Amino acid sequence: MNPPLTTSSTLSRRKFITGAAATGAGLMFLPKTKLFGANAPNNKLNIAMIGAWGRASQHYNWLKNENIVAVCDVDKNNLAKGLAEFPGATTYEDWRKCLDHKGLDAIICCTPDHTHAFITNWALNRDLHVFMEKPLAITVNEARAVRKKYLEKKSKLATQVGTFRHAFPNVTRVRDMIRAGAVGKIKEVHAWGTSRWPVPAGYAPAAGPVPAHLNFDLWLGPSPEHPYSPEYFRLGQRPGLGCQSYNKYWDFGMGYAGDWGSHVFDVAWNALDAELPQKIKAISDEKSNPAITPLEMSSLFTIPANSWRNEVRVVWHQGGKLPSVPAEWIDLEKFKSGVLFKGDQGFLLCDFDNRVLIPFGKDADLSYFAPLAKDKATPIIPSFFENWTSACKNGSPANTCCNFEYGSKMVETLALGLAAFRAGAELEYDGSTGRITNNEAANQFLTKPYRSGWTMEG
Ligand SMILES: NC(=O)c1ccc[n+]([C@@H]2O[C@H](COP(=O)([O-])OP(=O)(O)OC[C@H]3O[C@@H](n4cnc5c(N)ncnc54)[C@H](O)[C@@H]3O)[C@@H](O)[C@H]2O)c1
Repeated sequence: MNPPLTTSSTLSRRKFITGAAATGAGLMFLPKTKLFGANAPNNKLNIAMIGAWGRASQHYNWLKNENIVAVCDVDKNNLAKGLAEFPGATTYEDWRKCLDHKGLDAIICCTPDHTHAFITNWALNRDLHVFMEKPLAITVNEARAVRKKYLEKKSKLATQVGTFRHAFPNVTRVRDMIRAGAVGKIKEVHAWGTSRWPVPAGYAPAAGPVPAHLNFDLWLGPSPEHPYSPEYFRLGQRPGLGCQSYNKYWDFGMGYAGDWGSHVFDVAWNALDAELPQKIKAISDEKSNPAITPLEMSSLFTIPANSWRNEVRVVWHQGGKLPSVPAEWIDLEKFKSGVLFKGDQGFLLCDFDNRVLIPFGKDADLSYFAPLAKDKATPIIPSFFENWTSACKNGSPANTCCNFEYGSKMVETLALGLAAFRAGAELEYDGSTGRITNNEAANQFLTKPYRSGWTMEG
């Protein structure tokens, strides 16, 4: 039933179960944790929770169906909050040590964005299933490194990027409608998020001392050195919003594109069966800033044709930029975020929960479109989180809806939009090599600097 795991911890767990069965009553007196894990009789996963508060606190409930055996956080106060929910878990300050906790099957990681690709690849190297919060990576090269590692391991490891709105029924229905031709031949797709946030001039100046409960050096992790400032923790008291204190800085994130963009762009990406873009262009009135990601920007991607549709232009708009609308009475300002599919017969406008089909033109009689019969419709994903936990347990690990092949291509594309913004030029991209082919200098924007001593290959 379970995929064969090859970690030494699993082997020792298997040996234990065999041995325990042989010794009969001895079983009752053995430590409880030894009985858990994906291959154990009660079929719970042994999970390490890396990043114990903030977004992590929004996962506590469903995680209580599994076995949280280790909790890791660089902030003692946050570690205590996680431990209070999962008493008995072993605590860690450094995720590199936590990943070597004996008997682990999986990790869930809700740390800041700049650590995601590192923690992912270290965990995959240890044959651990991974649930990683979005964004999966913050540069093109990180996304590609994660995908490469995942593809080596995908027959045995289940992965999920935390873009949980992917499982909202409307997202599946939108996909089915586009595939069935609800807008005719698809031409262009626009996704947007209108939120704006304060834009600082640069990295925060030193404003110490570092609070005693925080290991700021480990918080920086692979990022280049920066002095401590409470600015990077300003929203940290609001679960799930703390990331907006730091993800606008290049060293700590990819701004609004990786933040809300990860969710909204996913609706378009999913409906199109999209692959890496061949051309990328960014439109913005903002100047490139060496410290801060752009706020107001549209990035345009030429996505290649596939077996069921032509080449299509996909646009991500952020910070107030919006696509043009098919009719004046459509007020996109009222959609905080959404997706507009433009085809040769009509438009489909949607957000995560709603959709409206707008046929247009003299022949807009809908005769071109046959809605899917109920029994042909794609099944709704009952639970985004169980989609991952059951894949960890049931031997079909690649079947998660937002696995790292899917998720890495999507975030690589969003990161390419930022590279085009920084290069100030239209870019041609070769997805097979990960190189920009028409502008050598722009390749510098596919990566970022790291502190020495930190490697993704740990
Ligand atoms: N899927 C979603 O809807 C969603 C929503 C909110 C946040 N997120 C993502 O979750 C992540 C965390 O966001 P947040 O708002 O909770 O941020 P946050 O900074 O408020 O919380 C991060 C937590 O991780 C801890 N931490 C920081 N560095 C660590 C390290 N190196 N090792 C271990 N623990 C560390 C912090 O102390 C804190 O407890 C971000 O990547 C964000 O994009 C996803």
